[in-house]
Amino acid sequence: MKAVIFDLDGVITDTAEYHFLAWKRLADQLNISFDRDFNERLKGISRSESLDMILVHGHVSAQYSEDAKQDLMNEKNRYYQQLIQTLTPDNLLPGIRQLLSELKHQQIKLALASASRNAPTILECLKIMDDFHTIVDPETLANGKPDPEIFLTAAKQLSVSPTDCIGIEDAEAGIASIKSAGMFAVGVGNKQSMAAADLIVGETSDLSFTLLDNGMKQWREKRNKIES
Ligand code: BG6
Ligand code: MG
Repeated sequence: MKAVIFDLDGVITDTAEYHFLAWKRLADQLNISFDRDFNERLKGISRSESLDMILVHGHVSAQYSEDAKQDLMNEKNRYYQQLIQTLTPDNLLPGIRQLLSELKHQQIKLALASASRNAPTILECLKIMDDFHTIVDPETLANGKPDPEIFLTAAKQLSVSPTDCIGIEDAEAGIASIKSAGMFAVGVGNKQSMAAADLIVGETSDLSFTLLDNGMKQWREKRNKIES
């Protein structure tokens, strides 16, 4: 293990919940049904793709021009930014502060691979910006998750081979992205939604350097056996 590449929302802090609340508020305004099950499909997905999925879900896509959709996205982001403005280091999910310190101590490189344009603001609020060697700018990417581009870009920015990287995610699209990048995928969440991950933890407090290191070693051994 030479590098760990983190997703942000739902892994480092509970902003996945804030995205849900902000989309729910917008969907309610548009009279589109929106529940937690549907929200699962939006995790890891960009703002514009999420809006498109919500409008399709409500059978109202044809009613909105590109300008109108931009207004809706701005509105959702305003709701979201109201929610994140109160974030402080206390909002780090359990165990994350310790995990970042352990990884730093072990000289593991750290990157952030989040689809969120709000990521730098959130890292500043949580006071963990300096823990990361690099942050992928989602605006520079051609393809979002589940495409591997964001995780491959993170590995490239760190100058580490993808096979020496671990990716940590809470979204199905994110796990798919890590797997197609050829990395060891760690899923935070329930067994059903994280089924494609190589290692699943129920809570962020279960994550530790030892767990990641051992998990990756076993994964490598298994792969070597299959290849030989
Ligand atoms: C991802 C979230 O990290 O970022 C998605 O999982 C969100 O729910 C996406 O839509 C884009 O975020 P933002 O902050 O740019 O709207
Ligand atoms: Mg996430």
